[in-house]
Amino acid sequence: MYAFGMTDFTNTPTAHPTPTNPHLVCLVAQSRDGFIAKDSTHRSETWVSDEDKTHFHAKLNECDWIIAGRNTAEQYANTMRPYNCLVFTQHPENKVAEHFAHLDPEVDDPIAYLAAHGAKRVAVLGGTRVYDYCLENNLLDEVWLTIEPTDFYSGLPAFNKAHLLEEHLSLKAHEDLNDKGTELLYYKKDYA
Ligand SMILES: NC(=O)c1ccc[n+]([C@@H]2O[C@H](COP(=O)([O-])OP(=O)(O)OC[C@H]3O[C@@H](n4cnc5c(N)ncnc54)[C@H](OP(=O)(O)O)[C@@H]3O)[C@@H](O)[C@H]2O)c1
Repeated sequence: MYAFGMTDFTNTPTAHPTPTNPHLVCLVAQSRDGFIAKDSTHRSETWVSDEDKTHFHAKLNECDWIIAGRNTAEQYANTMRPYNCLVFTQHPENKVAEHFAHLDPEVDDPIAYLAAHGAKRVAVLGGTRVYDYCLENNLLDEVWLTIEPTDFYSGLPAFNKAHLLEEHLSLKAHEDLNDKGTELLYYKKDYA
């Protein structure tokens, strides 16, 4: 029995099997009305709970690579410095930081890139277009969705096609992170 995305090497007569796909873990914090930020400059640490920050860093530390969009990578370049980071951009020649990798996912396959570079567990950090790309292409193995008890009324949505979350993954756990109303939802892909 092989997990989704892994290769059965039993009939492969080579000492150099193709690399296996990495496991993608999506980390997202949204307002009660479904936004990850009021605009592209609205930093998450200004409104998420301390409990979400602890959860976020614990999950991030389990990963060996990060995927982030250009805006998020620019905002958090210092935080992301210790990690291997793949920045989604339509202009890979304009680097956020010299030591980050840059790729246009409409041109090059990010999963092939990560697999070729030995990525095992990848944190998908957003923003919206990055979450959309990964969800719409059914790339996410896990989604950790924090819902904070605040409303923005407008802003950047977490997912433009949020219904795909429950089509591609299953809700496995739902817990209160504190007594102020912060909730944590855990979705996981059901492997065949
Ligand atoms: N609450 C949360 O969990 C959370 C998570 C992440 C971010 N945020 C917040 O959200 C805001 C940033 O989000 P955002 O949606 O504006 O920006 P973003 O996704 O970080 O960056 C958008 C840029 O990334 C590139 N990009 C993203 N997806 C792409 C794709 N599929 N193909 C090609 N290029 C792609 C493009 O860069 P080019 O213009 O270079 O082509 C695009 O302009 C910040 O305030 C950040 O703090 C919150």
